[in-house]
Amino acid sequence: MPEVAMSRSIRINGHGSLRGAINVPGDKSISHRVAMIASVAAGTSRVEGFASSADCWSTVECVRRLGVSVEEHPGALLIHGRGLYGYGPASIPPALDAGNSGSTMRMMSGLLAAQRFTSRIDGDDSLRRRPMGRIIEPLTKMGSIISAREGRFAPLEIQGRPLKAIDYASPVASAQVKTCVLLAGLYADGITTFVEPFTSRNHSELMLREFGARLVSSESEGGPRLSIEGGAELRPVDYRVPGDISSAAFFIAAATLLPGSDLVIRRVCLNPSRTAFIDVLNGLGARVTIQNMRTMHGEVAGDLRVESAALRAEPGGTTLSGSIIANIIDEVPVLAVIGTQIEGRFEIRDARELRVKESDRIRTAVDAVRALGGEVEEFDDGFAMEGPQSLRGATIETKGDHRIAMAFSVAGLLAGGSTEILDADCASVSFPEFYSLLSSLTGEGAVER
Ligand code: S3P
Repeated sequence: MPEVAMSRSIRINGHGSLRGAINVPGDKSISHRVAMIASVAAGTSRVEGFASSADCWSTVECVRRLGVSVEEHPGALLIHGRGLYGYGPASIPPALDAGNSGSTMRMMSGLLAAQRFTSRIDGDDSLRRRPMGRIIEPLTKMGSIISAREGRFAPLEIQGRPLKAIDYASPVASAQVKTCVLLAGLYADGITTFVEPFTSRNHSELMLREFGARLVSSESEGGPRLSIEGGAELRPVDYRVPGDISSAAFFIAAATLLPGSDLVIRRVCLNPSRTAFIDVLNGLGARVTIQNMRTMHGEVAGDLRVESAALRAEPGGTTLSGSIIANIIDEVPVLAVIGTQIEGRFEIRDARELRVKESDRIRTAVDAVRALGGEVEEFDDGFAMEGPQSLRGATIETKGDHRIAMAFSVAGLLAGGSTEILDADCASVSFPEFYSLLSSLTGEGAVER
């Protein structure tokens, strides 16, 4: 289990180019799912490449507290699944601790709703401010009884019940909500269907099938639809987690923007529901190419080569909006940095969801760009900027948000002078190795602890 670092700031100094080859940690979304799904499979799954992310270890700790043994070996975890009804109640108090992780709280709740006992799940101050009504509603329709602070915030108390299959149309395109309902659907008395307005990341669908769940995808008038049959016992799987493209995104951005860069990022998950960031960058003139593509467990992975390039918006400006937002949702903070360097106007809209992430990411990113001397217009659902702009070193308020800390570390490499990233260690939430990997490419001068 990775150590959690103390909170401290880091200085990033302007830097030349990034050259070499790196690995990024295992995909966070896939790691959460494999810890949860393997924990309710009948037997032992061996998982290689599990994420170092603190969030994913919150999930591991939750399943451990529910009685599932997770052994840590060099390079692999052994998850001794105990079958669909193998969990036992975690002693109360304390509650199960989801830490900073929305994925842990929302997706685990789908499993807890079906157990034959009551669970409490809580998280840190940021997680306690994030909306849980979006999972409470479908789980309540399925028959679970959930009490929450003010009806919609953590901590949650979840009384497990025999669940009814439902047809549910989600108002948000959220893979966390979809996964929560699919996991609950594993236990329901029939076929549960879930319709989302746009396709969100589909790791749960791919993985549930690998573990033997009966799941069908189709299209409906309201959007993409999934149907899962309750009652199927899951089999264990030996699983290899590919690298996290959302972690790679910071290095893709830095290598694109720092002239003279040529960087290879090995074995990155290239699931098409996660690669829109690369398509967007290449559409703006970036040079990101894919080598050695392979497929495992239905997930595509490959090596990325990133060479620096000048970025230019379409004539009249480039706007990202509508269905693409769900596929770049975690990359918007770094797109706020990239946006300052694109020639022409760059705009993101329909991204209101960012206001309820680990921080209000529209506000935090806009404030950070302005702190660096950049000009950006803020909207309720996004932002717009006109580039290229020159940035100057400043102090960045991360609001404890890992993706803001890493995105604005990239900005620090581009800016003249020195940039201080406050509470920089929050990067551990998804990418504990971020600063050491960055300084292994830049030399100590660019990253000062
Ligand atoms: C995730 C889905 C996204 C994303 C989060 C991880 C997942 O959240 O922002 O970092 O693993 O399913 P939403 O599903 O709430 O949009």
